[in-house]
Amino acid sequence: MGLLAYAGTAALALAGLLALAVALNVAWQLLAPRDPRRPPLVFHYVPVIGCAVSYGMDPLGFLDECRRKYGPVFTYPLLGRKITATLGPLGSNFVLNGKLAHVNAEEAYTHLTTPVFGTEVVYDVPNHVLMEQKKFVKFGLTTENFRRYVGLIRQEVLDYMSKHVYAEGTKTVSPGIDAFDTSSEITVLTASATLQGREIRAAMDKSFAQLYHDLDGGFTPLNFVFPNLPLPSYRRRDRAQAKMREFYISILEKRRASTEEPDLDMLTALQNQEYKTGEPLTDKQIAHIMIALLMAGQHTSAATGAWAILRLGENQDLQRRLYEEQLEYHLDKESGKLRPLEYETLSTPLLSAFIKELLRMHPPLHSLMRKIILDCPVPTSVGAPSAEPHASESFKKRNEGAEYVIPKGEYVLAAPGYSQVDEGIWGKDAKEFRAERWLEDGNKVPGEEDEGEEDYGWGKISKGGKSAYLPFGAGRHRCIGEQFANVQLGTIIATLVRENTWTLDQDFPANDYTTMIVMPAKPRKVTFKRREKAL
Ligand code: HEM
Repeated sequence: MGLLAYAGTAALALAGLLALAVALNVAWQLLAPRDPRRPPLVFHYVPVIGCAVSYGMDPLGFLDECRRKYGPVFTYPLLGRKITATLGPLGSNFVLNGKLAHVNAEEAYTHLTTPVFGTEVVYDVPNHVLMEQKKFVKFGLTTENFRRYVGLIRQEVLDYMSKHVYAEGTKTVSPGIDAFDTSSEITVLTASATLQGREIRAAMDKSFAQLYHDLDGGFTPLNFVFPNLPLPSYRRRDRAQAKMREFYISILEKRRASTEEPDLDMLTALQNQEYKTGEPLTDKQIAHIMIALLMAGQHTSAATGAWAILRLGENQDLQRRLYEEQLEYHLDKESGKLRPLEYETLSTPLLSAFIKELLRMHPPLHSLMRKIILDCPVPTSVGAPSAEPHASESFKKRNEGAEYVIPKGEYVLAAPGYSQVDEGIWGKDAKEFRAERWLEDGNKVPGEEDEGEEDYGWGKISKGGKSAYLPFGAGRHRCIGEQFANVQLGTIIATLVRENTWTLDQDFPANDYTTMIVMPAKPRKVTFKRREKAL
């Protein structure tokens, strides 16, 4: 009884303290004068937690609502961090092509990625070292390798469908299956059969799959907020990371000891690289780069593949036209059969347009963050309230001509996923899934201008930060896996369409924002049927 009374008093005291904190926080926002050089602060009740609930549940809806109230540049508190969103193509460019002296990716991401990828790579090294490591990876992403990969990916898809979708071989109709789980498994098998190398693919059927699963459990929003907690999932993450590293190192050692010619794959490419200082990549660094590639490509491509299955299940006409496109481009008239898929002819117009539209409507990474390491001015052009059609007149007047400054220690956020469905840029059908838009407009992104090219140390890429279509990011941190992802997704989708038809057994799923990347929310069931006469 005494204990209960004590607990009751403690709970009351806690509730009182919370109410006081909320009241002080609200009063401070309403009464304290705000430095006009700071972007407007999004109104919030609870200190520290800030806007975590509304942002976490629907980030793009949250950003849209804030833009309407505050204009394209605003600051919101989120779990102890202060984040300034700079919306729109100019805002994306400001963050993604920001000066190294001002914006920093390592400090924004390392607490999440280093325990998973391992040390001495990616965000655990200074930017110039990452740029060199990206150059090393590019040596493994050659046209010659992509040519080999198409056949390997196709075979994996066929085997997977036979073994896991059409269960007993004799069946032609699959039971309702989960589109994301299917895509996830196909993605990890195809990536390991190609990029990761023969040995990893063989181990995927055994111990490696469990290690992957445990490591993946350390790549969640909880890990982003709390990098280290005394929980079993964190211990499993750390154990899996160490075991995976050992596994890659043992492959490297076996290959070195073997007299056979090694496969010309990513491992071989990395073994032959050295830094500008003359130092070679160590085995440990190679292992960690391989883990980084596995993780960077898995969630992004698996989610995109799942959306592909769902969109085609929903839109039978599009599925039929993709099949007809295969016949149009690949039918061998003499044999009456479809020619095997090949790298050079993989990207047919509708298939490419479909993948582009998937990444417009369902970008796995809708927002990208950097930490501010030196007080950073935001040019008026990025945040000019007068250029913001939704902002109120009083807001525009108050902020006319303002140039904001974001202080060191806070974060900036670009949201390409927001611009990619902005009606002000794409027109009234911005939120409609229409692969045809890429055929009608000749592959043009509205308002995009040629911004020239730049080499950050790993090959020339288009600067393109001011584009309204940036599913692979821009600038020095731009994705290096784009071509591989296109080969992987193109081959998977074409193979599925050639051999099967399928339907979505439910309403189109909503977005699930509770994972690191945007996934389709459950349920997400489709039913596959083998084509009667697969050509
Ligand atoms: C970076 C998207 C597939 C490896 C990025 C970034 C985006 C992105 C938006 C920029 C991150 C930032 O600026 O903060 C995607 C999408 C993919 C995909 C949508 C598939 C549909 C892959 C694959 C690989 C990969 C298959 C590996 C083979 C990387 C690497 C970086 C990166 C190494 C560089 C990180 C940096 O420089 O900071 N990706 N990615 N990605 N991605 Fe991908």
